[in-house]
Amino acid sequence: MAVFWSQIGRGYIVNNFDFVSFSNSVEEDSLAVLKGLDSKTQKTIDSKYFYDEKGSILFDKITKLDDYYPTKTECEILEKNEDKISKRLPSNSVVIEFGSGSNQKIKKLLKAINNPTEYIPIDISKEFLLKNAKKSAKDFPDLKIKAVCADFDQTDLLQKTIDSNKSKIGFFPGSTIGNYSPEDAKKLLINFSRILGKQNFLVIGVDLKKDIEVLEKAYNDSKGLTAEFNKNILNGVNKIFGPIFDSNLFSHKAFFNKKKSRIEMHLVSKKKQVVNVLNTEILFKEGETIHTENSYKYSVTSFQNLAESSNFEMIDILQDKKSFFGVFIMKVKDI
Ligand code: SAH
Ligand code: AVI
Repeated sequence: MAVFWSQIGRGYIVNNFDFVSFSNSVEEDSLAVLKGLDSKTQKTIDSKYFYDEKGSILFDKITKLDDYYPTKTECEILEKNEDKISKRLPSNSVVIEFGSGSNQKIKKLLKAINNPTEYIPIDISKEFLLKNAKKSAKDFPDLKIKAVCADFDQTDLLQKTIDSNKSKIGFFPGSTIGNYSPEDAKKLLINFSRILGKQNFLVIGVDLKKDIEVLEKAYNDSKGLTAEFNKNILNGVNKIFGPIFDSNLFSHKAFFNKKKSRIEMHLVSKKKQVVNVLNTEILFKEGETIHTENSYKYSVTSFQNLAESSNFEMIDILQDKKSFFGVFIMKVKDI
C-alpha cells in the first residue's frame, strides 16, 4: 500500500483514496470563541464548533429521527428526480461536497449523474470525514476520492487543492447554507462560485418556510438528541481551552424567530456562574443564553434572489409534494 505526505497539507494516499488536512490553528479557534463569548450583548459560539466526532455522530442520529424532516425529505427529492438531475448535470465531472458529514446523500447524486471522475468531500470534522470518505472509497472502487479536512471558508486554499481545468459539480446538501445569515450566505456562495469556476454547477439543499409547529418540533425532538447536540458544543469548546464549561449547568432552548425567519438554538445558563476563557472572566447571569445556531428558512423566491445575486443562474428547482424542502440546481455565471 503506497503511503506519502502530500506537499500542501498533511495527508496520505491509499489506492483510490487521498486525504489532506488544513485545520485551523488552536490560536485562531481560541480567539474566535473568546470574541463570541466576551460580548456585552448576546454571547455566541459559531455553530461549526458543534462538529467534533461526537457532534457529527449526534447530528447523524438526529437526521434519522421522525421529528427531523429535512434529511428524509431531501433524500426523497434526490431519489425521485434522478432523471432530471442526470439531464441537467454534465458527465465526466469532479463532484465536490461542502460539509459532507456522513456522505449519505452523495450516493444518490453519484447514482444520478453520468460517469463522475472524482469525489472530493470537504468537512471540518476530521475523524468523521476520514471514516466516511474511506467507506465511500470502498463503495465506489472506480472513483478517485480526495477527502479534504478544511473550513469551507478557506477559499484560496481550496482553489489551490482542486484542479481548475476539469468540469465540476458542487454539492451543498442538508440546508447547511441556512446556518449562515443571508449576508454571510451570499459571501459563502460567491466563494463557492470562485472555487467551482464559471459554467460549473452547484446542487444545493435549502429548507423552506412552513408551519411553526413542524419547525419547532424538528429542533426540540422528543428523544432529546437535539438538546444533547446543542450542549455538545461546550465539549467542543473545552477541547480548545481545557475543561472550562460544565454542560450540565446549561439547558437547551430552540424556537422559531418569525421576524428573521430562522430557528434559533441557545444554551441557557441554569445559574449565575463565571467561566474563565484565556484569563478573561466571562460572567453568566441565571437565564442568560449563548446563541449557538441559526437555521434560516427560505421561500423559493427569496432563495432564488439570493442565489442570483451571488454569481449563480438558476437551472432547476426540485421540491417535495409539501414544499418542505428545495433542491436547487444552479450554474456559475460568467464572472
Ligand atoms: N451534508 C450532510 C451534513 C450536514 S451537517 C447532510 O446533508 O446531512 C453540516 C456539516 O458541515 C457537518 O458535517 C459539519 O462538520 C460541516 N461543517 C459545518 N461548518 C463547516 C465549515 N465551516 N467548514 C467545513 N465543514 C463544516
Ligand atoms: C446542519 N444544519 C443544517 C442542521 C440544521 O437543521 O440547521 C443542524 C441542526 N441543528 C439542530 N438540528 C440539526
